[in-house]
Amino acid sequence: MVEPGILIERLVKKYEDVTAVDGLSLRVARGELFGLLGPNGAGKTTTINILCGLVKPTSGIVSVYGFDVQAELCKVKQFIGVCTQETAVYDYLTGLENVELFGSLYAMRGDVLKARRKALLEKMGLTKDAERRVGKYSGGMKRRLSLILALVHDPQVVFLDEPTVGMDPQSRRAVWDFIRGLKAEGKTVILTTHYMEEAEELCDRVGIIDHGKLITLGAPGELISDSGVGSLEELFIKLTGRRIREEA
Ligand SMILES: Nc1ncnc2c1ncn2[C@@H]1O[C@H](COP(=O)(O)OP(=O)(O)O)[C@@H](O)[C@H]1O
Ligand SMILES: [Mg+2]
Repeated sequence: MVEPGILIERLVKKYEDVTAVDGLSLRVARGELFGLLGPNGAGKTTTINILCGLVKPTSGIVSVYGFDVQAELCKVKQFIGVCTQETAVYDYLTGLENVELFGSLYAMRGDVLKARRKALLEKMGLTKDAERRVGKYSGGMKRRLSLILALVHDPQVVFLDEPTVGMDPQSRRAVWDFIRGLKAEGKTVILTTHYMEEAEELCDRVGIIDHGKLITLGAPGELISDSGVGSLEELFIKLTGRRIREEA
């Protein structure tokens, strides 16, 4: 039997006047690097937040590695990590103190936390600035720190909501290498991004959603060749149109 990865079944999330997620069904395999794509307001963040238990669905089922996210959230929280779209770091602490705080929330201590902290700060290029207050960091540095905080406990399943937004090409590539490393370690990763190049480069499969519905699903290379376009960006525009969507 194939071990269950991430399962989304007939998921619906309604706010007062909008249906953010409208009957979404999707399966992501264990060890897969999956890209959830879509224009502003498509429902990506809502979906990710439901998958990690931050938002309650109106109806439908989501499960991670066989555990129902609603009914067994405590269990699920032990093996997932999330980097939310809004960067959540403590400005008045140093980078190092932020990592220590999050590590201790996961009951990590001593040498284990120290080694993990060191490795992550190095990979994200923050070693030199680790003792500086985060309030002085650039937006890209804060984003890289928030990735570290999402991963300090070495989760098996990782949700990254626009991890590279606002980063320069160097930082972005460091994050790409980092995400590839997660995949190489066998982790399951769901990523949202507005950079189609990023999705093409990294993802095993992508799902494009709009108005809370899945409109296409497949490996980037196959989607491109099947639809006779030159790039994922071209396909994205073809499917979702040119009308500018306001940011939430
Ligand atoms: N807390 C909320 N209250 C009301 N509407 C919301 C809320 N969160 C999201 N929405 C709406 O749901 C839709 C989907 O939003 P979101 O999931 O953030 O999209 P995306 O991440 O794809 O840009 C948007 O129309 C947004 O305005
Ligand atoms: Mg979003």
